[in-house]
Amino acid sequence: MTTSAPLKVALLGCGVVGSQVARLLLTQAADLQARIGRPLELVGIAVRDAAKPREGIDPALFTADAEALVRRGDLDLVIELMGGIEPARGLLLAAIGAGASVVTANKALLASDGGTLYAAAEAAGVDLYYEAAVAGAIPIIRPLRESLVGDEVLAVKGIVNGTTNFILDKMHTAGEGFADVLAEAQALGYAEADPTADVEGFDAAAKAALLASLAFHSRVKLDDVDREGITGVSLDDIAAAEQMGCVIKLLADCTLSEDGRIAVGVHPTMVPLSHPLASIPGAYNAVFIESRNAGRLMFMGPGAGGQPTSSAVLGDVVTAARNRVRGASGPGESAYSARGILPADEVRSRYYVALEVSDEPGVLAKVATCFASHGVSLQAVRQDGGAGESRARLGVMTHVAPHGDVCATIAELQQLAEVGAGVSMMRVEDR
Ligand code: NAP
Ligand code: HSE
Repeated sequence: MTTSAPLKVALLGCGVVGSQVARLLLTQAADLQARIGRPLELVGIAVRDAAKPREGIDPALFTADAEALVRRGDLDLVIELMGGIEPARGLLLAAIGAGASVVTANKALLASDGGTLYAAAEAAGVDLYYEAAVAGAIPIIRPLRESLVGDEVLAVKGIVNGTTNFILDKMHTAGEGFADVLAEAQALGYAEADPTADVEGFDAAAKAALLASLAFHSRVKLDDVDREGITGVSLDDIAAAEQMGCVIKLLADCTLSEDGRIAVGVHPTMVPLSHPLASIPGAYNAVFIESRNAGRLMFMGPGAGGQPTSSAVLGDVVTAARNRVRGASGPGESAYSARGILPADEVRSRYYVALEVSDEPGVLAKVATCFASHGVSLQAVRQDGGAGESRARLGVMTHVAPHGDVCATIAELQQLAEVGAGVSMMRVEDR
């Protein structure tokens, strides 16, 4: 093989992201060649429907036989943008087994079985890159995996799902209902193939698992993440948050606890308007990293959509291709610290608790006593008119308390005759 021979690339998937990646591989070929030192040759694209017309891409490149494509034996790079667990997992392992480096945006797969992919890549001496798997266009994997690898990361926190941020933002700013905005997010290409992954928080939870794994040099999996989506967030909750000077955001929070365990969760959270995360609009994402030496870093940018995400994929493609040209390989998995996961009930946060009560003497004192008996300290209480003259709505802001103690308080509040059944709680961001 001469030094100018093309590096052969196969693409698995040509949807929202894959079609943009194919377009860039073809239209930016000369620049990519100059940056890599050898040309890239796109040799095939696997899709479900190979007969479907795809604008600007040679129909001869398409195949419905992904297995044959990854096993052809001469591939340098395989880019997986199909999504889902299988057949993506088997195809990536086959590609690695055949000696190709792999680039993927598949957070669902990485968060459920990334260890197997890392081990296979290590054994084969090839690269596994996945910048586009978290926060779309924002460089966040490489900063954690490489730039901050000499530091001690203490917390990674932020908005990592574009679809839900788009929905919550529209609910706040336009008062639009959940279902209409979700349809808009799907049409714009932000949502996953099954949007349940977005609105129920699975997508953000997978990303939180990847961020926590890299930040804390441990293997954190999707099942380790305490997860709650946004389907329970109503326009009433949005109004209550606004009354408290907050907006609701779906926040991923990965924090080292005092005893060194990992607290990792995804929850709808009230964010004070003065907090930088409160102003993150539309499908944008933003991630804070707090580390021992660098201090606080913030990364912000488009978190979803074909074109922004293709930038992150192409960055990985160039990096893996450069490694290939030099006969080198990038970093493998770093999971040496093997920290435990802090149980969800022990994770501490501030909370906003909303409840409807009988508007009569002594009720507020009973409610306050209930919080106190579980060791939950109150920061502020707000009272408004309730459903009738004899009812009042209470909004209680707590100080930082363990989740389990707040849940126990709510269970007891619901037993009080003066309190209605519909007691709700939401975390409040305080850093
Ligand atoms: P998409 O629009 O649904 O595209 C999926 C592509 O994969 C389609 O071309 C589809 O073929 C092909 N495909 C699916 N299953 C297949 C199978 N079994 N065999 C062969 N081909 C198959 O998905 P996407 O939004 O581009 O997302 C792709 C990946 O990127 C996912 O892992 C997603 O989580 C990740 N991601 C997406 C975004 C975003 O904003 N959309 C951002 C970051 C990361 P057909 O075209 O024939 O149906
Ligand atoms: N569905 C994802 C989102 C795509 O809305 O953030 C980017 O990972």
